[in-house]
Amino acid sequence: MTSLPPGAYTSLPPGAYRPANDRWGAFSRVSATLPEGSLVVVDKRVAKLHPSLLPALQARRPHAILQIMGGERAKSFESLEQVLSAGIMLPRSGTLVAIGGGTIGDVCTMAAHLLKRGVRLVQVPTTLLAAVDSSLGGKGAVDVTVNGQVVKNPVGVFHYAEETWLCPELFESLSDTQRREGALEAWKMVASLDAQLFQNYTRRPPSLERLVKDARRLKETVCAQDPYEQQGLRRVLNFGHTFGHVLESVSRFKLSHGDAVGLGMLCALDVGRSLGVTPDKVAARVETALEKGPGVLNRKRTAALLKRAALEDIEALLAADKKTGAAGELRMVLLTDIGVAEVRDVSAPEWRALWPAWTKGVRP
Ligand SMILES: NC(=O)c1ccc[n+]([C@@H]2O[C@H](COP(=O)([O-])OP(=O)(O)OC[C@H]3O[C@@H](n4cnc5c(N)ncnc54)[C@H](O)[C@@H]3O)[C@@H](O)[C@H]2O)c1
Ligand SMILES: [Zn+2]
Repeated sequence: MTSLPPGAYTSLPPGAYRPANDRWGAFSRVSATLPEGSLVVVDKRVAKLHPSLLPALQARRPHAILQIMGGERAKSFESLEQVLSAGIMLPRSGTLVAIGGGTIGDVCTMAAHLLKRGVRLVQVPTTLLAAVDSSLGGKGAVDVTVNGQVVKNPVGVFHYAEETWLCPELFESLSDTQRREGALEAWKMVASLDAQLFQNYTRRPPSLERLVKDARRLKETVCAQDPYEQQGLRRVLNFGHTFGHVLESVSRFKLSHGDAVGLGMLCALDVGRSLGVTPDKVAARVETALEKGPGVLNRKRTAALLKRAALEDIEALLAADKKTGAAGELRMVLLTDIGVAEVRDVSAPEWRALWPAWTKGVRP
């Protein structure tokens, strides 16, 4: 991962693609380089759990510090407006710092793109999921409610962070569940992009720092080739997300994003097997690795969620999802081997054939 001095990219417009510029260290040390007059958005819970955070930020004489409660509800037009209002007086050369998990990062990425037609963005991921995935790759989005159902991320932007601060002490307050959620997103990349790493991880589980560094390197390699998702290369990062997003929505977001992606990967393995794209052995190895490694939830959880939902609602959610192809088929990422993924169009009858097994919580 490239490490560049602060401000090294100032010739690029704010938010334009640049390689990830990761700065590892204690928050007090890294934040000492923050330009004065920045707008800071902090997850309220994180500010409470890490009391030294706000004083360190105050010392940098910020434009404002806005505290927002993290969670999927933060990805709303309401919180976007809150951030925009707090930043209305920010100069065009200003900086927006997002300190929190993926939800704070996503809404702040939107705000950084809109404020003054684009200001500098600094991401400070505080969840493992944000560290391994959402704080990298430039995507930001808010959710929209359609016919009473929350649709994930239909409104969004690309706005790349200028810097990302990775402060290990901020991860210390994460629960085992939160670590699992992040680890599942990281394993998503390992299983679909790097066979050697997959093998290493199954032999010896990585440390948290190793996991973050490896996942960020894998994601950066993909984003660098297709920074604005124009060639479809980045789609591979959606492994597990087609049905993951559906499960997240039907649970009314009680099921976390990371856990939903974990179960979504099992669905993608099933689809791949039933189409003859994913060899049985590969699917079995990945499923076992996800159980033993990050600890994917039991298939019974998928069954409990899908049983409660009407098939038409699931179809509507899939149709509203941006990963749907032109003729309504699902554009899914399927594994052809460990570390090798392929994008395939999957017709409705093809995935519906798996519905009986999914609603029973068994492997088809
Ligand atoms: N932009 C992208 O490329 C991208 C990629 C993957 C996921 N996402 C999005 O990210 C979101 C999920 O991210 P998330 O799981 O970080 O969610 P989140 O922001 O809701 O954080 C999860 C919970 O952890 C709490 N939290 C945050 N930091 C903490 C800390 N250090 N210690 C204790 N608690 C802490 C939060 O308050 C929240 O309750 C989803 O909305 C998903 O769509 C975006
Ligand atoms: Zn994800």
